Amino acid sequence: MTLRTRATDLLGIRHPIVQGGLARVAGAELAAAVSNAGGLGQIATAGLADVAALRAEIRRCRDLTPNPFAVNFPIGRGDIWPALEATLEEGVRLIALTAGNPAPYIKRCLEVGAKTIVLTAGPELARKAEAAGADIVATVGYEGGGHIGRSDETTLVMVPRVVAAVKIPVLASGGIATGAGLLAALALGAEGVEMGTRFVATAEARAHPAYKQALAEAAPADTMLIKRTLGMPGRVLRSPHAEAIVAAEAAGGDVVPMIAGAMNARGTDEGDLACSYVWAGQCVGLIDQVEPAGEIVARMVAEAEAGLARLDAMRG
Ligand SMILES: Cc1cc2nc3c(=O)[nH]c(=O)nc-3n(C[C@H](O)[C@H](O)[C@H](O)COP(=O)(O)O)c2cc1C
Repeated sequence: MTLRTRATDLLGIRHPIVQGGLARVAGAELAAAVSNAGGLGQIATAGLADVAALRAEIRRCRDLTPNPFAVNFPIGRGDIWPALEATLEEGVRLIALTAGNPAPYIKRCLEVGAKTIVLTAGPELARKAEAAGADIVATVGYEGGGHIGRSDETTLVMVPRVVAAVKIPVLASGGIATGAGLLAALALGAEGVEMGTRFVATAEARAHPAYKQALAEAAPADTMLIKRTLGMPGRVLRSPHAEAIVAAEAAGGDVVPMIAGAMNARGTDEGDLACSYVWAGQCVGLIDQVEPAGEIVARMVAEAEAGLARLDAMRG
């Protein structure tokens, strides 16, 4: 079965499942595995050493899949222009933008015919992205892993509000890890899903085995928010270090060294989960094992199909 939407048509994919940009974690292998399964994989630029490393990832991904994939750019952490220009030069025509004003980058993508997916959190930002020329918006709710919006608005409430606010296709993000979640997102008016945490717990993700296994074992309450007082809330796995960040925030201390990228790398790459922070969403409660990414995509589609049949049988 394929679930065809405007998003699948725009992105040139078979299934409305997009792997989110995953800082440090999403390289060529993960992106290609998702794209080979009929979803859309993304290479994360966050965590890559330099533009040469990005070019190498793009070329490797192209060797691993004939299908489209995207490159993901968090805005506002340094100058992304050189990496964006290199990506366009490499022929990538799907660009994902998040965490800042996407307008100048969308303009550049429009000039070369590249399509843009903008990750937002709520109707206001989605409207701005649409006005700037974005092709698709993803909107991430409170349940989500990594950086989320400031409104504490859940995916269930946020998605229909964003769908009502814009004309372009919307991807639901935050808390989705199963075919039932995909079906629910489509029922809310989304035309696909964008998933992060589920794809960290995969064979192809570049994350330490201890991090992946912790996601498989965690319950939703084992996640918590950090960086709220900085206006950049992000959901992580609960750990002594994450608790110390929140305590330092409450005390008005200097948290900058505690939230540095190196502290994230300590958990993500080295598996020292107690003395670091690693991103994770509440959908950890729906993950019970580390699996190949392609199997997740295939199972989600089958589950969505079964769910549709179940709903259909309810009609009186
Ligand atoms: C480990 C991790 C790293 C992330 N890094 C990025 C990133 O670099 N760029 C981005 O757009 N989103 C990033 N996100 C957010 C995801 O793309 C996605 O929006 C979010 O995980 C959705 O919620 P879920 O985890 O419940 O699926 C990250 C999420 C996680 C879990």
